[in-house]
Amino acid sequence: MLKYGRALNFKRWIDENEHLLKPPVNNAQVWKDGDFLVTVVGGPNGRSDFHDDPIEEFFYQFKGNAHLVILDRGKFERVDLREGDIFLLPKHVLHSPQRPEAGSLCLVVEHTRRPEEHDALQWNCACCGHLIKRYEFGLQSIVLDLPPVYEQFYATSEQERTCAGCGTVHPGRGYQEWHRQLATSKVNTAAGNAGGASA
Ligand SMILES: [Fe+2]
Repeated sequence: MLKYGRALNFKRWIDENEHLLKPPVNNAQVWKDGDFLVTVVGGPNGRSDFHDDPIEEFFYQFKGNAHLVILDRGKFERVDLREGDIFLLPKHVLHSPQRPEAGSLCLVVEHTRRPEEHDALQWNCACCGHLIKRYEFGLQSIVLDLPPVYEQFYATSEQERTCAGCGTVHPGRGYQEWHRQLATSKVNTAAGNAGGASA
């Protein structure tokens, strides 16, 4: 009857899975076969991709601090996840989680997708926000389905990663360089130089 067993002690689960919550894995899923995808995500981890999720995502940043870079109507925004914060991300809001602090921990709850609901990962120009590449796929496993998409993007040529909007080359695997570009981006509201507040 209790398909997923009895209650487990969350702190003990964290202690037992601590080795997975740091690089290079950075995450672990609590129950493998539930309708809810309950994962714990640790730092440090940086990235430059944006996730388009057909389902809402719930975040509880229970240790340390993190933030999401959001891409909304052509502008980059920053949503801080400070220790103790909970946050519900609406579906299809493009987001790129950034977890710079080693030892930070976040509980993330998603839901399994229906066959007609597709996820996407996409990469955008940090300077002007223009889309560089987008890959849509049916997601069955958070752990197994994403790495091949990253590799597909990282294998693209510099020419394929050249922004059609402004000519900047997306650095590909080098997420630190992408964030350096973002820091001075004219469409980054967090950098204070996006020219007018977003609605
Ligand atoms: Fe651009």
